[in-house]
Amino acid sequence: MKTETSASAVLGSPLRINSLEIKNRIVLGPMAVLRPTDDGRPSNQSIAFLRRRAEGGVGLVFVGGAVASERAWNESPFFPNIRFDKDEFVPDLARMVVAVQEEGAAIFAQLFPSFGRMGVPRNGAHPIAASAKPVVMGATGFPDHVYVPGGRVTPPPDAATAADIKAVEADVVSAARRAKAAGFDGVEIGAHMCYFYSSFLSPLANQRTDEYGGSAENRARALRDAVAAVRAEVGPDYPVGIRMSVNDHLPSGQGADGFAEVARHIVTAGVDFISLTEGNYESMGQNVPSQSGNMLAHGEPQAFRAAVGGIPLFLSSTPDPQQAADAITAGHADATMLARQLLADPDYAKKVIGGREAEIVWCDHANSCLRRLMTNIPVACHKNPEMGHEDPEAKRATPLQNMFVWAAGNAFLMAIADKAAKAAPKPKH
Ligand SMILES: Cc1cc2nc3c(=O)[nH]c(=O)nc-3n(C[C@H](O)[C@H](O)[C@H](O)COP(=O)(O)O)c2cc1C
Ligand code: SF4
Repeated sequence: MKTETSASAVLGSPLRINSLEIKNRIVLGPMAVLRPTDDGRPSNQSIAFLRRRAEGGVGLVFVGGAVASERAWNESPFFPNIRFDKDEFVPDLARMVVAVQEEGAAIFAQLFPSFGRMGVPRNGAHPIAASAKPVVMGATGFPDHVYVPGGRVTPPPDAATAADIKAVEADVVSAARRAKAAGFDGVEIGAHMCYFYSSFLSPLANQRTDEYGGSAENRARALRDAVAAVRAEVGPDYPVGIRMSVNDHLPSGQGADGFAEVARHIVTAGVDFISLTEGNYESMGQNVPSQSGNMLAHGEPQAFRAAVGGIPLFLSSTPDPQQAADAITAGHADATMLARQLLADPDYAKKVIGGREAEIVWCDHANSCLRRLMTNIPVACHKNPEMGHEDPEAKRATPLQNMFVWAAGNAFLMAIADKAAKAAPKPKH
């Protein structure tokens, strides 16, 4: 018998975000798997991928890997990206929006203001962040079956000046205006991982001594000002949210209570939802976990709830439907946001809400999708042969690329590659 606390009843119930009602509480998380055109427009594959997830019953779709500024376009670590940095992209974005809305889902744009500590120096531009701190990739571990032979440390960014911070803010405001003009139902400012705004939020990455560093209030300032400026642009009724890492998961890093305290200073500027995400590029194993419900076990949504009250919180990495439903019933979160599970099974939402959980195709967390993303090979999912060519015309990875993805996930081969990379002479600077 279906009870009010069953997964189908809880996850199938509507959710209000500002003036928008979303039909259920299952959300497609942002993923840079959309394969836009080389000049940054949604391709037929981008649209077909998102439409397929909307058709599969999710209430809300996030467009991942989208850039808000020319700076972000130039320095992105994964490409091409969908662009929001010029008015000329609005008509193509609108085509994608309509396709998703036609299937009954809402669609939000995730806007990457700038890649901060993960930015790649390119085309004469140098990345900027709160402080000149490089990222030690996977310092406390990588996701299962992901290896980076020899390790990787990013080039240190420049510490942003006050004028740089205001320039990024202006770009985010313009991008939000374009998203609204294209018909998006809401926007999210990406302030997670080691990207620009994220670098301000934790004392580990923010060593500034001006009004953007030091206290939680100061560390919140850059993002809080951006939210306030976007809010002033889009008006009081339009959904505006942020995506935040909620725990550094690093020795002497900031934990959930510290991040929640920073969030408390930001939400008053007009935040309608927070997408919670674990860890960052230095604690990647936590960011892309193999178990359902880690975030709940770590108490992160609970800390945010205590700090920010009733603002809708999106829970991450909890594909177990009843576990997500119980968290919502307990008041820890308001919706479940899923990434890989919806690559493996685009009909997950329909199956959960229809009480057909036995039919779900489960993601195995073997992360070949992630290895593809990290090596700029078209993302595919071995559990779902349709994924990556929802548009049958979409270009497929070559057999050589597929072989490379396999080898990059093989512990034995990667141990050899790691030894070789560490023994190789270091380039002279
Ligand atoms: C292939 C792939 C691409 C991703 N791209 C993005 C992205 O563009 N923006 C983002 O915020 N997170 C991105 N992520 C992270 C996911 O949104 C999510 O936080 C992570 O996979 C953990 O959630 P899951 O356990 O539901 O997969 C990506 C993850 C994967 C596997
Ligand atoms: S390739 Fe598919 S099954 Fe494997 S981790 Fe990625 S989404 Fe899950």
